[in-house]
Amino acid sequence: MGKALIIGAGGVASVVVHKCCQNYEVFEEICIASRTLEKCEAIKNKLLGSRTKIQTAQVDADNTEMVISLIKSFEPDVVINVALPYQDLTIMDACLATGVDYVDTANYEPPDIPKFEYKWQWAYKEKFSEKGITALLGSGFDPGVTGVFCAYAQKHYFDEIHYIDIVDANAGDHGYPFATNFNPEINIREITANGRYFENDQWIETAPLAIKGVYDLPEIGPKDIYLLYHEELESLAVNIKGIKRIRFWMTFSEKYLNHLNVLQNVGMTSIKPIEYEGRQIIPLQFLKAVLPDPASLGPRTKGKTNIGCIIQGIKDGKPRTYYVYNVCDHEESYKEVGSQAISYTTGVPAMIGASLVIKGIWKKPGVFNVEEFDPDPFMEALNKFGLPWQESFSPKLLP
Ligand SMILES: NC(=O)c1ccc[n+]([C@@H]2O[C@H](COP(=O)([O-])OP(=O)(O)OC[C@H]3O[C@@H](n4cnc5c(N)ncnc54)[C@H](OP(=O)(O)O)[C@@H]3O)[C@@H](O)[C@H]2O)c1
Repeated sequence: MGKALIIGAGGVASVVVHKCCQNYEVFEEICIASRTLEKCEAIKNKLLGSRTKIQTAQVDADNTEMVISLIKSFEPDVVINVALPYQDLTIMDACLATGVDYVDTANYEPPDIPKFEYKWQWAYKEKFSEKGITALLGSGFDPGVTGVFCAYAQKHYFDEIHYIDIVDANAGDHGYPFATNFNPEINIREITANGRYFENDQWIETAPLAIKGVYDLPEIGPKDIYLLYHEELESLAVNIKGIKRIRFWMTFSEKYLNHLNVLQNVGMTSIKPIEYEGRQIIPLQFLKAVLPDPASLGPRTKGKTNIGCIIQGIKDGKPRTYYVYNVCDHEESYKEVGSQAISYTTGVPAMIGASLVIKGIWKKPGVFNVEEFDPDPFMEALNKFGLPWQESFSPKLLP
């Protein structure tokens, strides 16, 4: 049916490629393109014999002209951007120049400002609309599935949604004293930023990890959770009409936070360049180089993730509560695609989003977040492609 150009060859890209190959009727041909060609080749070599035709290419996605010429030679129906958020705008520019649809999993962030916001990508709305092409933003798990969960709740269970708490728990253990489950630089920038949530039409800012709670998660048990700012809060605050409060919580172990505190206190998480032996280095990028590669955690990680949305609102004039979540097992993910659950839970929805765009089901001119489309086909595909969801109508609520 279609062709996808996948940019990036890290942990998430590897899952996207495996899942596209499972969905070979939609993805007849793919090209894996990244900065380091050997990484693309390594992924391709794991899938020899697949019914999806795979080719590879070297590309620097910071260079729009290079992406344009790759798109012109491969002629994809969609570009799936699973490189880093820094490349979002250059890849969107290349899609605009060539008239090809675009899908990503993380919103743009300038390398020198640790602040992710949709404003840069939402500014492309008119240009994508005029060109008649679709940009689907944030089609990972969070953002991604969490937005689809909210849209599904809105469509089927609520007349009005008032409160949403997104809880992201990773109870996986990789055996290292400290490692991040996806790109360390992006991950640490997110966690060390100020917390922020939306309440009564305004954003309330907190010091990093200043608000803590405990939540008892199905199949995982009680965990410490910390309030973080997360990018889907920005789009859901706009797209879920009548919302009074939306917050995002993530679990961290004491061991993880102790390491992070020390690294922060000694300046290793800074993104300000410093002079070292006659050259400029960025401490956080150096830290990334010494930490375990997230793609290498797969064979070592045991345990489960649970990510979901606890929603409160009104149906037929009566209060209603609803919890929808997915539990994903690190070892099962590794057995299936050779990656741990964090890459798995991001790569599956990226493939699903791209398949809905290729099939024309989630296709309209402009730039959209996932919750702006009909959630039903996405929810159905989650069950089919390895991320089954569960629901409860009497969840415990967060204060
Ligand atoms: N929505 C979600 O739920 C969610 C969750 C986790 C991650 N994410 C997002 O998923 C994306 C991928 O994460 P990951 O863990 O797979 O990261 P990763 O393992 O670090 O992989 C990133 C890949 O992008 C490539 N790349 C970086 N700069 C490039 C450039 N200028 N041109 C071409 N390729 C470039 C890297 O190439 P090299 O190998 O040569 O460096 C690497 O192959 C990130 O944007 C992350 O924020 C989303």
